[in-house]
Amino acid sequence: MEINVDLSCIMVIFGGTGDLTHRKLMSAIYNLAFQDMLPKNFAIVSIGRRIFTNDQYRNQIRESVGKYSRFAMEDEKWNKLRNKIYYLDFDFRDNDGYVTLKKLLDSLDNKYNTNGNRMYYLAVAPEYFEPIVEKLKFHSMNTHENSNRRIVIEKPFGRDLKSAMYLNEKIKSAFSEENIYRIDHYLGKEMIQNIMVIRFANVLFESLWNNKYIDNIQISSSERVGVETRGGYYESSGALKDMIQNHIFQLLSLVAMEPPISLHTEDIRDEKVKLFKSIEKVTPEYIMENMVRGQYGRGKIGSKEVLAYREENKVSPTSNIETFAAMKLYIQNYRWAGVPFYIRTGKRLASKSTEIVIQFKSAEKLLYFKEFDNLEPNLLVIRIQPQEGIFFQINGKKPGVESAIIPIQMNFCQNCPLENNSPEAYERLLFDVMKGDSTLFTRWDEVEYSWKFADTILEVWRNNHPNYPNYDSGSWGPKESDELLKRDGRFWWNV
Ligand code: BG6
Repeated sequence: MEINVDLSCIMVIFGGTGDLTHRKLMSAIYNLAFQDMLPKNFAIVSIGRRIFTNDQYRNQIRESVGKYSRFAMEDEKWNKLRNKIYYLDFDFRDNDGYVTLKKLLDSLDNKYNTNGNRMYYLAVAPEYFEPIVEKLKFHSMNTHENSNRRIVIEKPFGRDLKSAMYLNEKIKSAFSEENIYRIDHYLGKEMIQNIMVIRFANVLFESLWNNKYIDNIQISSSERVGVETRGGYYESSGALKDMIQNHIFQLLSLVAMEPPISLHTEDIRDEKVKLFKSIEKVTPEYIMENMVRGQYGRGKIGSKEVLAYREENKVSPTSNIETFAAMKLYIQNYRWAGVPFYIRTGKRLASKSTEIVIQFKSAEKLLYFKEFDNLEPNLLVIRIQPQEGIFFQINGKKPGVESAIIPIQMNFCQNCPLENNSPEAYERLLFDVMKGDSTLFTRWDEVEYSWKFADTILEVWRNNHPNYPNYDSGSWGPKESDELLKRDGRFWWNV
């Protein structure tokens, strides 16, 4: 592939022994190497607290890549990458460690011709974001004339608006906004990038994309897994902060924003922020009536009995953290006035799926709409995962002599054919950081608005709790979630 920018860099991973590095980052790098998409001038330095030699570390990474990568382990490809991976052990707060790191990076620059370019990847617990940034600044590793110094921050970007602002100031004191890459891995998913294409590269959809033709939009992201090993983290998070404030808000903005004036990064981000600003303000009464929380109890996932949230490892037996959230929102602009956006996410639900359902309105009671009172609505479903594709439902004549109308469903699945192995989100995102393209990363004001929104809700929720647990594992969440739509004469589509 011909790319006209200098991709060369050393990727410096803080948190080199962590789960994210083993499962996602290294597999993504291997997959890029597999497709010959890694720059020739490239190396990785992983930092962790445990003591390993380069060889020991490389062997561990090989094992993880073999397990998690979408391309099979091929020695020829792996060996090219293997020798470019280095490991250093030091405590992220220890000055001496940064001195050693700097020396190693300088020598690798000479070896690999990486021109002083760095991608610092913070794959660590959030309490380390600030000390690492401070140390990089203190050791003058944050900027360099004629080289690019970029920093990638994993979620969570703050615990609330206040802490996010504080963190942002710290990072901004060392790196300029264009060099800060705030990860939302949902933006790296194929079908999320496709939302803009579906909307703006098809006359068919964009002309109907408004309150005249759309009845409601549903964004659902359900998981079968519980909190797994992350009880400690989840106890300070919950579904609203873990999924809605970031991932689902990004989906919402892409589905509902106005067309940007160009496809340039800042023009797209400007429209996303405008959309966040247009979300109708929610009062405490509105929140109590139109937002639902849940926490899973015991139940069955497939044939397996599973524990309740309060019985999970590192979770308080009296925890009031929500593992499910559903809500109705309105967007106050000409395009969307009056159209409800229903959002739902949760753990230990009946299936794993993320999709956006656009339900169109019925036409006037004329012709077939007069004769048949049970015509199904037109539906457009953007399937994000596990299936990636588009589902479209229209009405057609039932073949035969009787006059009947039936829904016809067209289902395009782009990752169903076995040979189609979509890139993992992290592949795309890491490649974009190397290119210096921040379109698929969140700008500070996007984070700011989404935290403002989440804080308003949490403030109200903090003071009164439902009687948890209030849904069984393996179900579709608390009954109040269904009632939320039933009151409006609607229901959740599980298409
Ligand atoms: C993460 C959340 O950001 O997204 C997890 O912290 C969640 O709790 C995960 O399971 C879901 O991601 P995906 O890509 O599996 O939908």
